[in-house]
Amino acid sequence: MKLRLGTIEDAAEMERVAIAAIGESGYTPEQIDAWLSGFSEERMRELCATSFVMIVEANGDVAGFATLIERGETAGELDLWYVDPDFKRRGVGKILVRAIEDRARQQEMSAIWVDASQPATHRLEQLGYRVHDDYKKTVNDVVFRNTWMVKRFI
Ligand SMILES: CC(C)(COP(=O)(O)OP(=O)(O)OC[C@H]1O[C@@H](n2cnc3c(N)ncnc32)[C@H](O)[C@@H]1OP(=O)(O)O)[C@@H](O)C(=O)NCCC(=O)NCCS
Repeated sequence: MKLRLGTIEDAAEMERVAIAAIGESGYTPEQIDAWLSGFSEERMRELCATSFVMIVEANGDVAGFATLIERGETAGELDLWYVDPDFKRRGVGKILVRAIEDRARQQEMSAIWVDASQPATHRLEQLGYRVHDDYKKTVNDVVFRNTWMVKRFI
């Protein structure tokens, strides 16, 4: 496996991984449909152009990716974090989060925020993120219970 920066050429593969990961994320079928409505290759291209993207590659394919965006002047957000189900539970998610944290520290960010889905909160806690608050959000009339989590560096 190889850790590298993502580029616009990865957009189609990132979309594939996001769709596969969301399908096995623990969401209900209605939540999966609602969540997938926001994904497209075009959105991934836009993300590659506007955010910091890290990719774990395995045998030439994208096994997982994570993105970091700026939140205000001093903080960042782990925006997308997806691992291909074929590569789940092998530490790919952790490698990606650590790479995003390294970048945030290099950028002298004071904290990383995550708008975490319920199934991801446990792993994020293991990786040092703390619950800030739980809230409900609605996407295409479907309710999601998400949790804002944060890891502070100073
Ligand atoms: C959340 C997600 C990114 C985690 O990716 P991952 O690569 O499976 O993450 P890791 O391998 O680092 O850790 C996952 C689990 O595998 C375990 N694990 C890691 N390496 C392992 C290994 N070598 N052997 C056995 N287990 C291992 C971890 O301890 C962790 O266990 P737990 O969560 O049951 O306590 C992935 O499951 C995913 O894409 N989910 C769907 C989308 C989603 O919810 N994204 C997050 C939105 S905030």
